[in-house]
Amino acid sequence: MLGPVILAASRSDRMRRLISAAPVTKQVVDRFIPGEAVADIVPIVEEMTAKGLELTMDVVGEDITTPEQATAARDAYLELIGRLKGLELGEKVEMSVKLSMFGQALEGGHELALANVRPVVEAAAAIGTTVTLDAEDHTTLDSMFAIHEELRKDFPQTGCVIQAYLFRTEADARRLAAAGSRVRLVKGAYKEPAEVAYQQKHEIDKAYVRILRILMEGEGYPMIGSHDPRLIAIAQELAHQAGRKLDEYEFQMLYGIRGDEHLRLAAEGHRMRVYTAYGTDWYGYFMRRLAEKPANLRFFLRSMISK
Ligand code: FDA
Repeated sequence: MLGPVILAASRSDRMRRLISAAPVTKQVVDRFIPGEAVADIVPIVEEMTAKGLELTMDVVGEDITTPEQATAARDAYLELIGRLKGLELGEKVEMSVKLSMFGQALEGGHELALANVRPVVEAAAAIGTTVTLDAEDHTTLDSMFAIHEELRKDFPQTGCVIQAYLFRTEADARRLAAAGSRVRLVKGAYKEPAEVAYQQKHEIDKAYVRILRILMEGEGYPMIGSHDPRLIAIAQELAHQAGRKLDEYEFQMLYGIRGDEHLRLAAEGHRMRVYTAYGTDWYGYFMRRLAEKPANLRFFLRSMISK
């Protein structure tokens, strides 16, 4: 019940100001966003890769309002990639980007986002790794898929995300399940209307399995973005049925959620990539994590009251 309310708040400037300034918030935010600067995050990357985990890095930020902010977003990723270069981790550490942070919603935004994201994809390729385009709300997706297609002409390994809750996604999955493509399947984290998306958890879960089957039976590289134990077991079974080896798909989970499971899957020989967000503009990312699990909200509110 609370999820949609929190998701609506995630787009409110007033709530953003209130929550970002709350004195205890930072401590609670740290569970999901383990650093604000590149210098905080590099030791975490080293520690996690030493444990056999792989990472996808998200410099938090979205819904920017000026072209200068879009350029700053590009530069933040370039700074990160510059720091990763010395670690020589190759594809063990890839990038996840939100095109809204690269200017997609501004005037001429499609071209602007493409122009800003391209240097990031180039820099990632130069250190032997890749970029995955996150999926945001459904109004942004045609542009995201067009940018994905454009980038893949020069960087075929560029990945994208598809969301099981959208009616359109089975068709997108069929189109994307081709040789060389990297596709992350998630349930979907935005507030979407009933005209475009399933609203009930059981419908979303069933769609997730249908789409996962398409990806597993296809020729691309499926990336299973979920913490749901049932879906993880089903993914293993579908991979087995499709004759995929352990390095022909991977699991992905968010930093701070089911950390024991990250290590368990990695120890079983699976590729396990942890989506690790950092930076100062954490509000939207943090609110979606609260919306996914009411217990997170209770914990957050308790920490504010006990202050
Ligand atoms: P579900 O929500 O059913 O959770 C299953 C179990 O996982 C819960 O019972 C709980 O134990 C645990 N859990 C899940 N979320 C939790 C939380 N916030 N806090 C604590 N425990 C939690 N979405 C999107 O729209 N676009 C995108 O690009 C991405 N990218 C992305 C990358 C990766 C690597 C992941 C894992 C997820 C995303 N998402 C996303 C988010 C995704 O759409 C979805 O909202 C979350 O993954 C939660 O759904 P689950 O599949 O984990 O199942």
